Amino acid sequence: MLCLVMHIAPTGAALGAFITGIDLARPLAPEGLAAFRAAIVAHKVVFLPDQHITLDDLERLTDQLGGRRDTPYVKGLADRPMVVRVLREADAAIGFGEAWHTDLSYLAAPPAFTLLWSSEIPPKGGDTMWSNQAAAYAALDDATKREIANLTAVHSAIGPYGAGGYYAQVQGKTSMQFAPSAEAHAEHRHPVVIRHPESGEKILFVNRTYALRIEGYDAERSARLLNALFLHAVSEPFRYRLQWRPHMLTIWDNRSTQHLAVNDYQGHRRDMYRTTAVGTALEAA
Ligand code: SIN
Repeated sequence: MLCLVMHIAPTGAALGAFITGIDLARPLAPEGLAAFRAAIVAHKVVFLPDQHITLDDLERLTDQLGGRRDTPYVKGLADRPMVVRVLREADAAIGFGEAWHTDLSYLAAPPAFTLLWSSEIPPKGGDTMWSNQAAAYAALDDATKREIANLTAVHSAIGPYGAGGYYAQVQGKTSMQFAPSAEAHAEHRHPVVIRHPESGEKILFVNRTYALRIEGYDAERSARLLNALFLHAVSEPFRYRLQWRPHMLTIWDNRSTQHLAVNDYQGHRRDMYRTTAVGTALEAA
């Protein structure tokens, strides 16, 4: 077991911190794990450079953060179904996660954390951006806060993963294996403003990829409000943009962030491994 003397250097932006002094090729001891988890929740996304870990290590850490789960409609590795290879070959036009989203918000209990480890990165580009959804909520005007206080949003994976959805249409243009399905049309509801189950913060919890409509609003009113919230949620002041290095592990709190993979490295390869840690149903703030 690894006893922890970690060093945390916040990015200075709205979220994110670099963590050094910790080797995740070894299991975290219980007290170290608690401090590590608290750092992820506090900073919302953490970056750990120079982590020469194996997929066994990645899976063990995911288990320490609550347990591995699958990513519906995205095929995992043949021998490790809970590990997704986020791969874009040099000749592929389409990557993965190239629109703002919160992972698996189309489920009743979205994951608590996502872990992404870089094996190979392009010489330039291929960054990931995150946006702080607690800061986004706090910056809303009072009238909007009052309006959304008791609203519920309907989420579904139909857009990306439905039968005939985005990934079904671009199947030949990606290096990843998707499994589009009519099951992805299932809907789950989450409060528009959730109370973070660990930090207690109020979080704006709608994202353009999976939030379809506001329950009880007509289509026009729903689209108007959601579009305004989507734009606000990922605006510049709430963001951090990471330039990857090989062998960097990034872990984000999926309940308090949105993220996007920047598609700007045509002609180069990007190869990452991703797991998600089990989360809980989300409650209204
Ligand atoms: C994802 O959305 O999980 C992928 C992010 C990335 O590849 O940068």
